[in-house]
Parts: sequence; structure tokens; C-alpha cells
Amino acid sequence: MLPRNRVLFSLFFFLLSFLLRAVQGSILAIDYGSEFMKASLIKPGVPFDVLLNRDSKRKIHTTVSWKGDDRLFGQDAFNIASRFPSDSFSHLKGLLGKDFDSEAVEFYRSISAAELLRTERGTVGLRRGGGENTEWSVEELIAMQFAYVKELAESLSTSGTSTESKETVRDVVLAVPAYFTQFERDAIVDALEIAGLRLVALVNDGTAVALNYAMTRSFPEREYHIVYDAGASGVRATVVSFLSSAPDDKSSKSKVKDVTTGKESTQITVAGVGFDRSAGGLELDRRLRDMLAADFEAKHKRDIHGDKRGMTKLWKEAGRIKAILSANSEVVSTVESLAFDIDYRAKFTRTEFEARCSDLLGKFKAPIVDALEMAGLTTENITSVIMAGGHSRTPMVQNAVKSLVGADKIAVSVNADESAVLGAALYGASVSRQYRTKDIKVSDIIPYAIQVSYQSESKAPNPSDVGEADEQSQQPLVKPAKTINSLVFPPGSKVGSKKTLTFKRKDDFSLKMAYKETLSNGSPSELLEAKLSGVKEAIANLTEEGAVDPVVKATVVLSESGFAGIRDAIAYGEIKQDETVVDKLKGLFGGSKNDSDSQDADSSTDIGDSRSSTSTSSAASATPSESAAASTPKKVQDTISLTLDVKPLSIPALTPAQLNRAKSRLGAIDAAEAAKRRRAEAHNNLEAYLYRLRDLLDNEDDTPFMRCSKEEERKVIQEKLEETLLWMHEEADSASMMELLDKRDAIERLERPVVFRYKEIEAFPPTLNNSQMINFMTRMFIGEARQNITDDEAADVPSKWTAEEINSLEKTLKEHEIWLNEWVEKQKSVKMNEDPVILTTEMKARAKTLENHLLKLMRRRTPKPPKKSSSSSSSATSTSSTGTASSGESSSTAAESKPSPHDEL
Ligand SMILES: *[C@@H]1O[C@H](CO)[C@@H](O)[C@H](O)[C@H]1NC(C)=O
Ligand SMILES: *[C@@H]1O[C@H](CO)[C@@H](O)[C@H](O)[C@H]1NC(C)=O
Ligand SMILES: *[C@@H]1O[C@H](CO)[C@@H](O)[C@H](O)[C@H]1NC(C)=O
Ligand SMILES: *[C@@H]1O[C@H](CO)[C@@H](O)[C@H](O)[C@H]1NC(C)=O
Ligand SMILES: *[C@@H]1O[C@H](CO)[C@@H](O)[C@H](O)[C@H]1NC(C)=O
Repeated sequence: MLPRNRVLFSLFFFLLSFLLRAVQGSILAIDYGSEFMKASLIKPGVPFDVLLNRDSKRKIHTTVSWKGDDRLFGQDAFNIASRFPSDSFSHLKGLLGKDFDSEAVEFYRSISAAELLRTERGTVGLRRGGGENTEWSVEELIAMQFAYVKELAESLSTSGTSTESKETVRDVVLAVPAYFTQFERDAIVDALEIAGLRLVALVNDGTAVALNYAMTRSFPEREYHIVYDAGASGVRATVVSFLSSAPDDKSSKSKVKDVTTGKESTQITVAGVGFDRSAGGLELDRRLRDMLAADFEAKHKRDIHGDKRGMTKLWKEAGRIKAILSANSEVVSTVESLAFDIDYRAKFTRTEFEARCSDLLGKFKAPIVDALEMAGLTTENITSVIMAGGHSRTPMVQNAVKSLVGADKIAVSVNADESAVLGAALYGASVSRQYRTKDIKVSDIIPYAIQVSYQSESKAPNPSDVGEADEQSQQPLVKPAKTINSLVFPPGSKVGSKKTLTFKRKDDFSLKMAYKETLSNGSPSELLEAKLSGVKEAIANLTEEGAVDPVVKATVVLSESGFAGIRDAIAYGEIKQDETVVDKLKGLFGGSKNDSDSQDADSSTDIGDSRSSTSTSSAASATPSESAAASTPKKVQDTISLTLDVKPLSIPALTPAQLNRAKSRLGAIDAAEAAKRRRAEAHNNLEAYLYRLRDLLDNEDDTPFMRCSKEEERKVIQEKLEETLLWMHEEADSASMMELLDKRDAIERLERPVVFRYKEIEAFPPTLNNSQMINFMTRMFIGEARQNITDDEAADVPSKWTAEEINSLEKTLKEHEIWLNEWVEKQKSVKMNEDPVILTTEMKARAKTLENHLLKLMRRRTPKPPKKSSSSSSSATSTSSTGTASSGESSSTAAESKPSPHDEL
């Protein structure tokens, strides 16, 4: 089977039952950046907003650091980075899905002091310094940050309703740059899974910004906008078209109407994407840091580059002054004790900084040019440029964009930091269909070309076999095998689409899927290899059944999350009829191409000996019934599934075993931290308890503690307290949690009798009152009941009670009174600091016995003269007994007295 399930299974999910996928409960959206991550939780009853961390920060540094055994996240982790540069890990996003020898890793070395190592998979790991030497993969370190956010979301999601048990947040929509390769997508989803989260979908961040933008707007006419996202890891531009249609807009040719809800719906179509991964905010920081380092060297004649702490301080300082230079034309940089005990101080101007970055201006613009070109548009067609990302406020970035599209087209009304995460959350809400949102349909694309290659069949000459079709039917029969490449997904292909490739093959063969061009950042290009087996037998069977020229069909898919894969392979044949096979195939696929969107210029492309057919469809219409075999049941045809064996190439995603190993590593440190927290809690509780006890002992006043304790007791407690305080001071820090709990128990046991006495003294008066009250009521009842029995006898009617019953009650009452008087008398002479001779629990129990006896008789029903039968009225009996029953005794009483149904009327 596949080492990973995501690539193919998630596609499978999408194509077969994406909409049926049950996403229960809340959905977490995460925008994981190179510097900051933002998260948002969609949950019924929780206001939809960006998640705050414990410091009420809306954006969280994507840093994880250790300070000794303590693991820190966010601002805390970032703040200590310059003190513990070897134990702090930032900007990890750039290392996801990268080969250890890639340019991206080279760049990382230039901005980080972290020690990198090659994992067994050839990807990047990081080693904690400071003698610790633990190695973590990039995925694991990012998983820790995801787990941190998961916990934030869970505590937020639970805090509203405190009694509810802690809710688990599992489903995540993750915003990623459109330029993320399949390897990077795999790696970040692996991180998600290690953190115990489950991917709902990846959404390109530019698309998410567009979605957020469209949420509050309406587009009666089609409008084109560019989302320009200047992030830390790269700049990207996304050309999107917006078009809204009103529910009753019958004239609209667009299919974006949603007849089921009757709401206005908006179609967002991504038309083009451009990017530059070498001109992000980190590159700006790097140049600024190098300016500072060079200046330091010039001033102090010392090279700071080898000083990890110094360089980390400068990195932080570069970020700080970059932000200041965005709003000011000059800045004073000061770093205390930067390196070699030197306090650094210098002044920089924005002009100097911009001169240092002049070569980047073209890179800031290029993504827009590329995106427009892919979309087939010019700046004329653009209504506005929506600026997003942390570096969109940097003046030189803004100026570059302005110089290209005109200052009037810059849209500033968008929250540059948060629109991506909010858009991702909205995307999650719309995918899950559990939430009522404005109806928005999204159609996204991939920026890279993906091809499938395979070896042509090499054949021995066989002159008698004239009818057999060749790879190219006009060719002579002898032909060496050669590699044939076919472009299955050109740049700009829609996500959530599939293509069927048709091959005239007689034997097993393999397909290789790869990016067509070498990608930026030195990413490898081969994605996966699929071996198709069982071909020979299947083709033979189909031929036997009378199929003419049976073929092999393989379905290649591009999931909504941008993963390319090969879904299935079949042998297919049609029983001969009048038309040719080619005509039939054309009819078959031509008919199902029903996408009114003008962007979707799909066509059956002839690619050597294989034929491809696109069936681009939106999520809503991609159902199993669209598969080639099922869509035309009238035709006489047959299909036989082939065995498909898919193997990921280059940088395979983690295998289930590797994922489990990572999960248990993280689980182990989580468990260790939880145990540590519990120990710390036990420590603090013991300490607080000891101090409280010391205050009680020191207080000379007439406190309840003093009144209820004896001199000797206090002395013993005092001794134990002193001993424990000393222990606390000298040994508690290294004590285990059990020892801490034992210490507390030992001293608490001495205090317990005092506390018990106090509680008894408090409880005594109301308990006595209650007992006396019941005595009083019983006596009253006995008097009245005797009188009534006498009256009843005189009137010759049956009585409720017999004289014996009343005598028995009186006996119970007397016993209780005697017991109570005797022991209350004894208790009067007991001092407060002595144990009570009579316990309130016993008083309550005895009073209860009398009370029950009394109630049993009081609830007795008046009997009727026994003239009529009442045997047939079982339902009325049960009604009357439930009507009066409030205890076991009373209902049995009701049963004994057998009332007639008329009693209730
Ligand atoms: C883009 O603008 C050009 C020039 O104004 C116009 O001719 C063309 O139709 C526009 N294209 C679209 C798709 O709106
Ligand atoms: C081909 O036909 C044979 C005989 O009918 C059958 O046993 C075999 O399972 C078939 N193979 C496939 C791949 O359908
Ligand atoms: C394609 O769409 C047209 C118009 O919406 C419809 O009449 C036709 O039946 C559709 N064809 C198929 C194969 O779905
Ligand atoms: C005894 O209980 C009654 C009724 O609950 C209350 O009114 C009365 O104040 C109580 N007396 C004492 C001494 O607690
Ligand atoms: C005694 O009889 C009177 C009059 O019928 C009635 O009001 C009273 O509740 C009876 N007493 C008891 C204890 O049932």
C-alpha cells in the first residue's frame, strides 16, 4: 500500500465524497508564517475572531525555545532567543519539505544560529545546543507550535462553558503560500498530524485574503483584483476575479447562483499567480542585519559574525529598526553589550536601507507581472491591489507596487495581518457546510506545470500482426523504448480537477509524475511513481469479450489542497459498434465537460500516443457517477481495474511509522511537562498550606482554631510544622510529587481533629433544633390522631389508624427524646477543645428514623366504608400513589390502604 495516505486518499475523499466528509464541531484555521502565526476558531457560540494567546497577542511568534527544561512558545520563546541562540528555533517554515543541500537551507544558515543536521530522510533536523543534544525534525518543531495553538483554541473553546468537559479541537484549515510545492504541503500537513490535528484543507493564502475581502462586498459586475501578499518568506501576487449573482438574477449566465439557499452568491476564481521566494521580509531583515554587522565591524574593528548571541541580537534589532524605518526616515539603533562587551549604537536612514535593497525592486514587481500574464490580463483590467502580509507596509514594497499599477489602485482597507487567517476560517466554514456564511465559491489553481512520463512500449517486429495498433499507428513496427512526457496539469490548472490518460498498452508499465520545470529554491521535481500491473490479463480478457482495441486509462487528480496524484487505473474496452472508438471517447468526455467558466479552456490534448481528457468540475459536482465508466451506462463496454502501486519520490512525506514515532516523542515531552506542572502545583499547595497553618498557630487571639485545639495538639502541630518548613526549604525542590503530597498529608492529619471539632460545634445547634422540631410535631400528631380515632369510633366510621399504630409511634418518640436529652446533657459538659460525645451525623440519623415513622402514618389516606369493589382500577391506583408518593414508605402505605378510584375525584 501507500506509505502515506494523504496524497491519494485525500484526493479520493475530495473526488468521491468531499462534501460528505463530516467535520464535526469547531474548525481551527491557522496561517503559519515564517515569523508569526495567526489562528482563528470557528465554533458555534464563540465569536468569530483571531485567537488570542495567553498574553492577549493576536499574532504569535513562530519560535520554539528551551530554557533548561522549560519549553517556551511565542513572545517568550522569541525574547530569550538571543540569550539561548542554540536552543531557539525560528523561521522554520522555510525548511519544510527541503532537501538538506538545497538553497533554501543555505539561506536559512545565513539568518539563523541554529545547528542543522541531515535527517535520515535527507531533510532538515535541528539540534538543541547547550549539552542537551536532542535532535528534532522541522516537522516536529512546527508540530509543537501547532499543538500550542491547538491548546489555546481548546481552552478558549471551553472557557465559555466551564462545566463542560474540555473540548478537543481537531479539524484544521491551513493557509499556505500558493508557491508551496507538494513536498512543502506534505511536510506541513505531517506537522499537523504529529500535533494531533486533522487536515480539512489547505488554502492558498492569497485566495484566503480574497475570500475575506469578498465576504463583506458584492460584485454585480465581474471585477479583477490582485492580492499582493508580502510575507516574510516571499512575495506573491494572486489575480482573482469576483462575480456575484443575486438569487433572482435569471439573466446571469454565470453558474454561481445558489438556488437552494436563495442567497446572493459570489464566485471567486483565481486566474493567475506569481511569486518570488527570494524577496520576502526575511531577506530585508538579513540585509539590514548585515548592514549593522558591517557597521559594527567598521567601528569596532571586531568581526561579530562568529558570535551567535551577537548575531541573534542583531537579527532581532534588524527586525525592530526595519519596522521603525517603515514609518520614519531614520532610526537610531542601540544594542547593549552586543558583543565583546561593546554597547552598539548607530544611526541609519531609510535611504541607506533602500539603496541596499535596490536590486529587489524588480523582484517586488515581478509577481504581479507574472500573475497578470498567467491570467491573460493587464493592469488596466485590475480594479484594485489588496495589500496583505507583514511587509506590505514597507515603503519600498508599496512604492514598487504603486509604480506598476498606480497609487490609486492600492486598497488599504484590508487588515494586512489577519485577512489570510480569517479567510481560511471562512473557507473552513464553507467546506464544512455546518455554518451559515455568505455563499462563496472558490476556484483555485496551481502555479506549477505537472507532467507524467513513461517509457514507450518497445516491440519486436511481428509482420503477421498487422492489425495491432502501435504507439503511433503510422510508424513501422520496430521501435526502441523512449521516454514520453505529457503535460497533464499546465500552470494555472484548477485544483479539484482530474484528467484521464489513455494508453494503448499490452503490458505492465510505470508512470512518473513530476514538476515539469526545476522550481525555485532548488526543489526536486519528481513527485511519485506509479506502477500499473495486471495489464496483460485485463486486455486479454476484454479482447476475448469482443472489445475492439481495449485501452488502459489512468486518472490523474489534483486535489483541492493542491496535491497531485494518480487515483486509479483501469483497462477499458467497448464492444464494436458503428462508430470508431475515438469518436466514442470524444463523445464520452466532450459531453461531460460542462463548465461555463470562461477561464476553463480545457481541451483534449493529443500527447504522443496517449490521449488526455480533462474533466474539470467544482467540488459540488464531482461525484462518483462522473467517472468514465458510469456516466454512459447505455454503451456496451467493460472495465477491469488494474493494480496501482504508488511510490512517493524525492522527499516522501512521513510514513505512518515515522508519524507515530514523532507523535510519541512529542507526547513524551508533553507528559513530562504535565507531570512537572502537577509537581509544581503540589509544591505550591503545600507551601501555601504551611504558611496558613503557621498563621493560625501564631495568632494569639481567640480564634476558632485556638478554641478547638488543646495546648498539646498545638505543640505537636507546631513541631511538625517547623520540621516541614525546614524540609521545604532544604529538600522540597528535589522532592517528587509523591513526597510533597505525603508531607502535606502527615501534617494535615494532625490538624484534622481540630477542624473536625470546629465543624461539629458549628453543626450542632441547627441539628438539635431539627431533632426537637420533629419531636414536637410528632407529639402534636399523636394527640390529634388519638382524638380522631375516638371520634371515628363514636361515629362508627373506620379510622385511618389503629390505636396500636399510634402507640408504636409514641414509643419511638419517647426513645428518641430520652436519647436526645441524655446525650445533649452530656455534650454540655464537653469543652470546645475536646472531641464531642455526640455526633451530629448520629443525631440526624435518629431524627430521620422518627420522622419516617411519623410521615408513614401522616400520609395515610382516609378509608371509605368497604362497600364497593376497587379491584379493577389499577391505573387509577398507580396515579394516586404517584400523586402522593415522595418516599418509599409512603408509596407502600398507599398500596396497603388500597384506596378506591373515587378518592381522587
Ligand atoms: C482588459 O482590458 C482590455 C483593455 O481595456 C480590454 O480590451 C479587455 O477586454 C479586458 N479584459 C477583460 C477580461 O476584462
Ligand atoms: C480474466 O478472465 C479469467 C477467466 O474468465 C478470470 O479468471 C480472471 O479473473 C480475469 N482477470 C481479470 C483481471 O479480470
Ligand atoms: C451541459 O450543460 C447544458 C446546459 O446547462 C445541459 O443542457 C447539458 O445537459 C449538460 N450536459 C451534460 C452532459 O451534463
Ligand atoms: C430552629 O428552626 C426553625 C425553623 O427552621 C427556625 O425558625 C429557628 O430559628 C431555629 N432555631 C434555632 C435555635 O436555630
Ligand atoms: C383529625 O380530624 C380533623 C377533622 O376531620 C382533621 O381536620 C384533622 O386533620 C385530623 N387529624 C389528623 C392528624 O389527621
